[in-house]
Amino acid sequence: MTSQPKITASLEPVPQLDLAAQYAAIGSEIRTAVERVMASQQFVLGREGAALEDEIAKLCGVAHAVGVASGTDALILALRACGVGAGDEVLLPPFTFVATGSAVSALGAKPVFADIRPDTYNIDPSELERRITPRTRAIVVVHLYGLAAEMDPILTFAKSSKLPVIEDNAQAIGACYRGRRTGSLGDAACVSFYPTKNLGAYGDAGMVVTNSAQIAARIRTLRNHGQSEKYRSAEPGWNSRLDEIQAAILRVKLRHLSDWKRARQSHAAEYNQLFSQIPGVMPPLAPEGFEHVYHQYTIRIEQRDALQKFLSERNIGSTVYYPYPLHLQPLYASLGHKPGDFPHAERAAHEVLSLPMYPELRKEQIARVVETIAEFLKC
Ligand SMILES: Cc1ncc(COP(=O)(O)O)c(C=O)c1O
Repeated sequence: MTSQPKITASLEPVPQLDLAAQYAAIGSEIRTAVERVMASQQFVLGREGAALEDEIAKLCGVAHAVGVASGTDALILALRACGVGAGDEVLLPPFTFVATGSAVSALGAKPVFADIRPDTYNIDPSELERRITPRTRAIVVVHLYGLAAEMDPILTFAKSSKLPVIEDNAQAIGACYRGRRTGSLGDAACVSFYPTKNLGAYGDAGMVVTNSAQIAARIRTLRNHGQSEKYRSAEPGWNSRLDEIQAAILRVKLRHLSDWKRARQSHAAEYNQLFSQIPGVMPPLAPEGFEHVYHQYTIRIEQRDALQKFLSERNIGSTVYYPYPLHLQPLYASLGHKPGDFPHAERAAHEVLSLPMYPELRKEQIARVVETIAEFLKC
């Protein structure tokens, strides 16, 4: 460290995420919305869900949105609507939450991994060419931590290879890539409203967003037992509907999302400024033309595990997203991968650490986190 950052750190615990602070701020709005659903006694496929679909479609800059039961279901249904089935191959990054891969596996298709870029943690477009085979049927890109993948070369490659692109936008709702919203860039995109997400429900919920009327119509059918009209099913589907209580809660939170995004971005700027004086820590990159929404503020540091222990002993929360890349998960042992196959994903899995990040985080808490990391590095 060249000079001490100007820090006035408090000694209170700093959680990695504080949903209670959010509820304290918006609890009365939430209770009013839930009461509205109770009064309507309409709990599934009603006005709240339809209104949320319109609002999320608008936010993502697409023509259609279809509410489903989770982000995982959104991925499975989007893949299926794009024609992926048993025996097909799907290209995806190995450094992501397991759901990105298990959605592919759920359809009997095979995940084929393409390594990430070491600076953004997102899929490396130049890797796609190396991994494509005659059985490749789709590409899934993940906008990890709230930062869009480098979409232009991916979309060019997909177009020339005639492959659909599905965006796993679970972590990046509201993010932008060169002036366009994530979720509007591929053929379809999945949104997760898992409670810890930037826009989180009070339970599981998800959505598929797309500009394709055909994909949207197919997912509306599939999410409701394949029924194209009431009690008439033309193909197997299942129950993957987003309920009215979750939709009403999400509509309240959606009104706050852009303020929350700005708060996250301001916290990230504060962290970045303090870390600029601390060698040995690599803050997250937000390349020119990319708007990062900081679902996570993730640093990279060689002594990651020791740092996490040091922080935890001082009541500072942190999380490793994700310690095992998909190709080394027991789930995918049958694919025959070994350490070294995807070196950037493996190195990231050893070195990343997500620090406290939520809109209600305070400057002195950020100062305490950075000061503690500086203290660790001096040990
Ligand atoms: C990158 C990614 N993909 C998919 C999912 C799955 O979403 P859900 O938990 O809503 O099923 C998540 C979140 O959990 C995620 O972070």
